Amino acid sequence: MNENNANINWFPGHMAKTERQMQKSISLVDLVIEVVDARIPVSSKNPYLDKLWSRRPRIIALNKADLADPEETARFRKWYEAQGYGTIAIDALHGKGMRDIQPLAQKLCADKLQREKERGREGRRLRLMVTGIPNVGKSTVINRLTGRSEAAKTGNKPGVTRHEQWIRIGSDMELLDTPGILWPKFEDPEIGFRIACIGSISEDVVDTYTIALRLFDYIRPGYSKELAARYRFTEDELALTAEELLPVLAQHRGFVLGRGRLDLERAANTFLDDYRSGRIGRITLEQCPEIPSDDGQAASTDNAAAETPEGK
Ligand code: G4P
Repeated sequence: MNENNANINWFPGHMAKTERQMQKSISLVDLVIEVVDARIPVSSKNPYLDKLWSRRPRIIALNKADLADPEETARFRKWYEAQGYGTIAIDALHGKGMRDIQPLAQKLCADKLQREKERGREGRRLRLMVTGIPNVGKSTVINRLTGRSEAAKTGNKPGVTRHEQWIRIGSDMELLDTPGILWPKFEDPEIGFRIACIGSISEDVVDTYTIALRLFDYIRPGYSKELAARYRFTEDELALTAEELLPVLAQHRGFVLGRGRLDLERAANTFLDDYRSGRIGRITLEQCPEIPSDDGQAASTDNAAAETPEGK
């Protein structure tokens, strides 16, 4: 990826509006569910939310856990919990892990509800909202939580201003029907690269060939067996540079243009699609930083990284 691609503005001209909307929505809720992509749990999280929402309870939902390395996901959960967040690992597409969200939300808001009870205010519903950068699965999470099949389609734009709509979930909660949209941090080119790998940057503004080459190099040390299995690479081939390896992939797959010329763009796209849909394996692109030894008091459920077969 070139420098320009890494520095693109996600919502040129809409940033201020997005901020205003987020501030307004956030002032209405008790708890925020911040959806991140479990394959890049740090790069897909925007610290801007920390400024807006520093003290109040938050659940970090590591979504797309079905595509991420389960051990890394478990480590990242611990790491976030040590920082005081509630966490959950989910696969919203298939509805796994979702049923743990409500008890965790209640647990995280228990003190607040107790205080309100002592002041004579009892029995109100908790108000929640979902936030996150584009494509992490916010709409899918909202639809799962509310049981709707088609809702919350925002097109990842700040959206038209309208009255907030609350959807009941269970007997004691309600959820804002529109997600809060955050923008990715592109100041760091490395973050831009990772976000491009998971497919959250429009293909129009990234150089897929360069991203594919870098991704090859990135995952090869830890996942050479998976790469060999998927693309029938020999050991010798796996030792090639990424630039030499992509033509091999094209050859193995028969991606040939006229006169024997290899279709490297198709090879690059195939490789990226395979990574994004988990066909190479469950691969996390970030390593969890060291977890502080004195574990914080963060609340958590024992939700097993969305491994459970049942949905909500
Ligand atoms: P957003 O609101 O944050 O922008 O994300 P959205 O829910 O639209 O989800 C983005 C894509 O990620 C969708 O796929 C969705 O199906 C997929 N997705 C969401 N959650 C999960 C998950 O837990 N696991 C997996 N594997 N995929 C998930 P799409 O192909 O872009 O759209 P569609 O063809 O499904 O409509």
